[in-house]
Amino acid sequence: MSRQAIIDRLKLGRPLIAPSMLQCDFGNLHREVELLETAGVKVLHLDVMDGHFVPNLSYGAVVIERLRELTSLVFDAHLMISDPEKYLDDFLKAGCDTITFHIEAVSNPIPLLQQIKDAGVVAGLALNPGTKVKEIEKALPECDLVLVMSVEPGFGGQAFMPIAIEKLQQIRDIAGEKLILSVDGGIGPKTIQKVAGAGADLFVAGSSIFNQDDYRQAVSEMSLLAQSAVSPA
Ligand code: DX5
Ligand code: ZN
Repeated sequence: MSRQAIIDRLKLGRPLIAPSMLQCDFGNLHREVELLETAGVKVLHLDVMDGHFVPNLSYGAVVIERLRELTSLVFDAHLMISDPEKYLDDFLKAGCDTITFHIEAVSNPIPLLQQIKDAGVVAGLALNPGTKVKEIEKALPECDLVLVMSVEPGFGGQAFMPIAIEKLQQIRDIAGEKLILSVDGGIGPKTIQKVAGAGADLFVAGSSIFNQDDYRQAVSEMSLLAQSAVSPA
């Protein structure tokens, strides 16, 4: 899929719930992917952690590459790693459709955003709860996607931080409708309407899906709540 086709798929499909594959059953990835596809999911959010940029380890490009063989869902990679430029080729080769790295991990995000786009992949920039919108403003014209963290990155299952709401609004106001705006951390039935109303397109959700027996029910409940926040009945 071309970069533009991925952007269109994400924008036209919104609101989209992107399950974070951090809390899934890693012993049975095939089954997990099948269940999520049956639940109507279009995007998988892939959290890469290096134990350095964040105090936790997850999985890397090798796992993503194997997962790629199982599905044609959009792969939304979230790199919580130091020196993301060093590993870009690995994640491109693994078949990621979007690659998002952290502003806090680089001195100047613009060259890496351009490299990702030149490779035909959607380029995203993430910002931590403590990072101000001002700090990504210069790079915004180069971003296809911005990921607003609503928890400190590193772990699933944390409480949503309301600071994300005003940041989503600010970014949407500056960047306009073209930007894919994503939110990650503590998203569930109690929080999704607030972030949908603030302009998010893509809703990353880990525990609110994987802690449920019925993924389809969890995903459709959140989709309906997000829709109701942008088009009230
Ligand atoms: C946190 C990760 C998230 C996380 C979300 O560092 O980036 O994607 O897994 O999990 P929940 O939805 O449980 O907050
Ligand atoms: Zn994430």
